[in-house]
Amino acid sequence: MTTKPAIASAHSNIALIKYWGKSDSARNLPAVPSLSLTLDGLTTTTRVQFDAELDADQVELDGAVVTGREHARVVALLDRVRALQGPGFELRARVESRNDFPTAAGLASSASGFAALALAASTAAGLSLSVEAISGLARQSSASAARSLFGGFASLLAGSEHAHSVAPLDHWDLRLLVAVTEEGRKPLGSTEAMEVTKRDSPYYSAWVAHAPELYREAETAVRERQFDTLGACMEQSTLMMHASMWATRPAILFFTDTTLAVVHRVRALRASGLPCYFTIDAGPHVKVLAQAEHAEAIQQELAAMNQVKRVIPCAPGPGARLLSDEGTPC
Ligand code: PMV
Repeated sequence: MTTKPAIASAHSNIALIKYWGKSDSARNLPAVPSLSLTLDGLTTTTRVQFDAELDADQVELDGAVVTGREHARVVALLDRVRALQGPGFELRARVESRNDFPTAAGLASSASGFAALALAASTAAGLSLSVEAISGLARQSSASAARSLFGGFASLLAGSEHAHSVAPLDHWDLRLLVAVTEEGRKPLGSTEAMEVTKRDSPYYSAWVAHAPELYREAETAVRERQFDTLGACMEQSTLMMHASMWATRPAILFFTDTTLAVVHRVRALRASGLPCYFTIDAGPHVKVLAQAEHAEAIQQELAAMNQVKRVIPCAPGPGARLLSDEGTPC
């Protein structure tokens, strides 16, 4: 016996106000509120089918069999779906997932990946959950994934079980220009890096104490479309998060020479009259926030930098959704 397969797609979201650190590691609850923009690019598409013929969950990512820790994280989500379906539901699943961008390279692949998986797996298991419940399922695997269930601007509050929508994707015509600074996988995963920061950084408590105020200011800036205020909050959130990591021993350092070069370029462009602001996650790439009317000029400036490999322009995108067998939204 097999269940009807379900296919879901989800986009990455980039935190304008960062989540870093957990208030409850076992339940994966965030210690600070975060605010993100879901993108129209950086997409994961995932197909899930439960099958009585299987004696273990099979997971493929971009055509390669997934094993070890990554496999265990997928199985943990599938186990939660099976438990929700009821004690009699023990079928194992075949999971096939594709990213249209590099995995685990600091481009928020876990966000789009677990959002798509939570939606596809719960649907394939015959559950009909609310978007909040699916966001909660995704959050237990990767807190940032909770936000990718929602399009446009979304937030995940401190200690919260699921994300919620702050404003839809057509609220504000912004662009995030993703300046890819290196190819390849990042050295340290965010889960481990944030645990070390919480345990060892003398700046962690200052980060947690200041984050709510920054979040409130940024949320108002989004609602009122105040670009410079949002940009200033975003840069401060990024640098406070990274400063907390730099204060561990040894320091957790995701920046490279190119990361800093792009940061300086963004500041210089701003000084020359092109409004743009940077944000950096647990990887070396720099994401640059711009208003639609300036995006192309800024993209050209970033792409012209020798060290930058390529620039991926992204607009606000939709939340996770189910696709038909032909790949069109249901
Ligand atoms: O949810 P995780 O474990 O992928 O952590 C995400 C951490 C950051 O990307 C750095 C910040 C964020 O809020 O997305």
